[in-house]
Amino acid sequence: MLEGKKVIVGITGSIAAYKAAFLVRLLMQQGAEVRVVMTPSAVNFITPLTLSSLTGNPVHVQLQDQDTWHSHIELGLWADLMIIAPCTATTLAKMAIGQADNLLLAVYLSLRCPVMIAPAMDVDMWRHPSVQQNVQILVGRSHILIPVGNGKLASGLTGEGRMAEPQEIVESVQTFFYKNLTLKGLRVLITSGPTREPLDPVRFLTNRSSGKMGAALAESFLKMGAEVTIVSGPVAEGLYPPNAKVIQVETAEEMLNACLDSADSADWFVFAAAVADYRPEEVSAEKLKKNHPEWTIRMVKNPDIAREISSRRKSHQRMIGFALETEHEREHAIQKLHTKNLDCIVLNSLKHPGAGFETDTNKVTVFCNDKSEVDIDLRKKSEVAEGIVSFLISKYI
Ligand code: PMT
Repeated sequence: MLEGKKVIVGITGSIAAYKAAFLVRLLMQQGAEVRVVMTPSAVNFITPLTLSSLTGNPVHVQLQDQDTWHSHIELGLWADLMIIAPCTATTLAKMAIGQADNLLLAVYLSLRCPVMIAPAMDVDMWRHPSVQQNVQILVGRSHILIPVGNGKLASGLTGEGRMAEPQEIVESVQTFFYKNLTLKGLRVLITSGPTREPLDPVRFLTNRSSGKMGAALAESFLKMGAEVTIVSGPVAEGLYPPNAKVIQVETAEEMLNACLDSADSADWFVFAAAVADYRPEEVSAEKLKKNHPEWTIRMVKNPDIAREISSRRKSHQRMIGFALETEHEREHAIQKLHTKNLDCIVLNSLKHPGAGFETDTNKVTVFCNDKSEVDIDLRKKSEVAEGIVSFLISKYI
């Protein structure tokens, strides 16, 4: 099933390193071509000879052996996937800050392929905020986290921190290669773009949302196998991926009605639209003439779509909101998370150049109602969307 796939297995210094031999063997049984790199401390737990015998390839630990230089760049270019298993707290931290003081880390920094991490450590180390923060940084870079197991640990303690079993890791590798179908069967509804609130048949009130963030999210969910419906205000033609179902609306009320139609059938809702909070109380049937010295428009409140949908939520449904802020960003976003009864909210601030409306880039922080959060630095909206989706997968799948 993994024929032709080129996989680097990176082994770090943990008692779980012995499981890496089983992982390598399972990958090879599936037809993958495997190269192993190890940190110097990993060789205290399992010998390079064992792994080179299993793979039929030399195992590299140092950047150079006597007079031979081992090119980390070449390996980085060769691979379709790198799996770091077991991954210690030290290696997680060095990956997070980009430190390359051994061959494994130099290979990691030279990769052009996705990365999977199977952490292994003691329960208190795993729970430590600094370790959790590093994990979130790496998840925010779209690395695939293989969740730790819960049980008896080498220290004698019991709890979370065991490396996932090799069979589980291989299943994640298969899922990854066979089109990342982690979200197969999941129905995702995304609201996107601006709304238009008419004043008369000619004029309307709107905002600067382009729908680019919604389009990037749709693409990322589709790549993971989800079924995607986009309820969108007016945006540029051809913006959305052709394999998403698009329902076009104009006003906030139309957007709400389209979302209500899917309220029972969607599993996840992502509210990325910039919905007008108010609309003109009256819409003139005829074009308003300019023969008045002034024009006062009375506005009434629009429905809050995210709030309406989450008030009807079923237990399996997830609600993910967005918050576009210009001040007290964190407080306002967390307040919206709670008042709209959401699972997570993605904050983007207009104070950050390159973030928010219209741009091709964004910079966000995701806050969840269990108080976890992750920052995704300024990047293309497509990469930010991938980071958000992989964070949601690590939490809810
Ligand atoms: O479309 P782009 O140009 O790519 O820009 C992307 C974006 C900036 C629009 C997007 O990233 C974003 O932040 N969307 C939410 C913008 C917004 O209206 O935020 P808000 O803080 O006002 O609303 C909070 C949440 O409630 C949002 O999920 C919003 O969709 C939802 N809401 C708001 C008002 C309302 N009446 N109904 C809602 O559902």
